Amino acid sequence: MTEAGATLYELRDVERRYLKGSAEVAALKDVDLDIAAGEIVSIEGPSGSGKSTLLQLLGALDTPTAGTVRFEGQDLSRARDSVLTEIRSHRIGFVFQQFNLIPTLSAADNVAIAMAPKRMTRSERRQRAVQLLTQVGLGQRASHLPSRLSGGEQQRVAIARALANRPEVIVADEPTGNLDSESAAEVMSLLVGLRQDSGVTIIVATHDDEVARHATRRIRIRDGRIVATPHGQAA
Ligand SMILES: Nc1ncnc2c1ncn2[C@@H]1O[C@H](COP(=O)(O)OP(=O)(O)OP(=O)(O)O)[C@@H](O)[C@H]1O
Ligand SMILES: [Mg+2]
Repeated sequence: MTEAGATLYELRDVERRYLKGSAEVAALKDVDLDIAAGEIVSIEGPSGSGKSTLLQLLGALDTPTAGTVRFEGQDLSRARDSVLTEIRSHRIGFVFQQFNLIPTLSAADNVAIAMAPKRMTRSERRQRAVQLLTQVGLGQRASHLPSRLSGGEQQRVAIARALANRPEVIVADEPTGNLDSESAAEVMSLLVGLRQDSGVTIIVATHDDEVARHATRRIRIRDGRIVATPHGQAA
């Protein structure tokens, strides 16, 4: 785990272009950004501004068309697929707006199947899944199917799943976008508590000011560029 305060990400002159029909769209351009271990960074901006595109680069799900994305000093733009896969499965936990739970599996099994293949017996996996569910306040719901859980509870299962391999970073794309304000507040205080307890770095894209105010640093993007943050300082 990178020491708190040490540089975790370094993005330089990052650009991500997409081909849309015959036209090229620059979803991100001129992005320079450093993120330190232990930060909670919010990425804010209007629809289509490039938030998800940026999170995909930070999550090693995508690589830039120009510029460099370094994670713990390693240039992801040049990394082999096997390295990217390793980073995605062991270093980064993902949380999405739609929860993405498997409807036919219990909460515990949704968490257990995310555990990377290593020498763990079924019962060890199950035990760790229940531990993680307890950590997110759902120890009593371990055997429930997602359909028997509220939206907020489903998102907490998804957070437990994201923690399955003890990631360094949680990348969350509008994690409260489908939740009522009370559940959204619970999800955010859970994330803030996880960061306090384990030092995990949290990067969250959001439209919601209530979510962003939990961030230790707020970044705003518009038309693919980082603009001044809501606090007024240059990002
Ligand atoms: N796979 C893709 N192919 C082509 N264009 C894309 C692709 N993904 C994103 N884009 C374009 O890149 C731009 C940024 O999209 P992105 O999804 O990053 O925005 P966003 O800020 O996450 O928006 P939202 O708030 O609606 O989720 C948009 O113009 C979008 O249409
Ligand atoms: Mg998006």
